[in-house]
Amino acid sequence: MEALDLSPGEHRCPGPSTRDIIIADRQPVPEALLVEAPAYLGDEDIGYDRYTSPAFFDLEMKKLWPRVWQWVAREEELREAGDYVTYDIGPYSFLIVRGADDVIRAFYNACLHRGTQLRASDSSGFAEQLRCPFHGWTWSTEGDLQSIPCRWDFPHVRDDMFKLPQVKVATWGGFVFLNMDEHAVPLEEYLGVLPAHMKDGWDLGRRAVAVHIQKELPTNWKAAQEAFLEAYHVVETHAQNLPFAGDANAQYDLFGEHVSRFVHTHGVPSPHYPEAQTEQQIADKMHLPAGTIVPEGGTARNVAATWRRDNLGRKWGLDLSHYSDSEMLDSIEYHLFPNMCMFPGVSLPMVYRFRPIGMDPGRTLFDLLFLRPLAEGESHPEPVAPVRIAAQESYGSAPGVEPWLGATFDQDTNNLIQQYRGFHASKKRGETLGNYQESRIRHLHQTIDRYLNA
Ligand code: FES
Repeated sequence: MEALDLSPGEHRCPGPSTRDIIIADRQPVPEALLVEAPAYLGDEDIGYDRYTSPAFFDLEMKKLWPRVWQWVAREEELREAGDYVTYDIGPYSFLIVRGADDVIRAFYNACLHRGTQLRASDSSGFAEQLRCPFHGWTWSTEGDLQSIPCRWDFPHVRDDMFKLPQVKVATWGGFVFLNMDEHAVPLEEYLGVLPAHMKDGWDLGRRAVAVHIQKELPTNWKAAQEAFLEAYHVVETHAQNLPFAGDANAQYDLFGEHVSRFVHTHGVPSPHYPEAQTEQQIADKMHLPAGTIVPEGGTARNVAATWRRDNLGRKWGLDLSHYSDSEMLDSIEYHLFPNMCMFPGVSLPMVYRFRPIGMDPGRTLFDLLFLRPLAEGESHPEPVAPVRIAAQESYGSAPGVEPWLGATFDQDTNNLIQQYRGFHASKKRGETLGNYQESRIRHLHQTIDRYLNA
């Protein structure tokens, strides 16, 4: 019988929790996985106009995006002096370059003559100089003005006043971040618990991009990522996973202003799954090789983790024996405000980013990366080029995505399309969130409000 004297946000799904399942594993897990940090943040509806209103979107562009740290590149994309990538978000465009002095800088991607982008959006490559394609004004990769055609006509242009304007840059976990706010807190402070949690086997700096998919999603950037901040939707949207994956018993943690996390387990059925199953029956549904046997007294979870440890270890030339079953199997997802998710686990080593496209609140670019661990002493290989797929194309059509996982992402896309249409159609003007399972969504909105109201 459910306890009725609990406060809002304290109710939990009956049955074994994520923590119970992880502790019952044979191998100990990293300390970070044993931390629990739930919080009740209120139960007011979240207005749909926060997703659809051009005025709200405009406010985010003016008061949110210019003040947050945002991931713009992987360090391996900028290995050599002269390597560059562009990064666009809403109306903003930046050119991120490794200079001849080996420093990574981020410049506003606009010429100081008549404003032309120095490099086109979505481009990357190598440049000895930053030369504007319109009239040829040229800067060094450190941002110093080098030449102006017909210089005699510009006696009013002083070199020291025409350095390319920069924004702050910092790196962590192999990612390059920028912040447009010159008074921004240092990245290490902004990251909160992440550096303490993401160390040793979770160091994303010691991983390489194996897959990079980009897809435009026809919804608001917040709605797009919120679909990935809760496991509440699994019972209805991804019912095929219920025989072997936790959902209602997922763990949700809020760490300060900028970080949240969920952990949901694999190898143990959902609390929603009605049928009793043997461990062998569970294993048979877990996309393991045909004929995989769960030994007497064994568990599907341990067998699946062991197979993945062996199989992926062989594939990558790595000893994965120090990873616990939880790290090998579970969905361990950290969110870094405002738009980045990262999975330090081994079998689902994904990174997500959700960016507004242009000035339309209903257009989002979803970057989906898979990072594989590097072998001892292995240096980062050449970064893979992003594969862009259309909204209606299956994720499974992209190389490197397992069919079952591609189908799962496709189910999420279908929801997003119908949800955004429903935001506009609804008579009720806001969404009603669960106190615990959807607490990360409320956390996101409350942090947004702190920026908008600051
Ligand atoms: Fe760049 Fe003229 S706009 S050189």
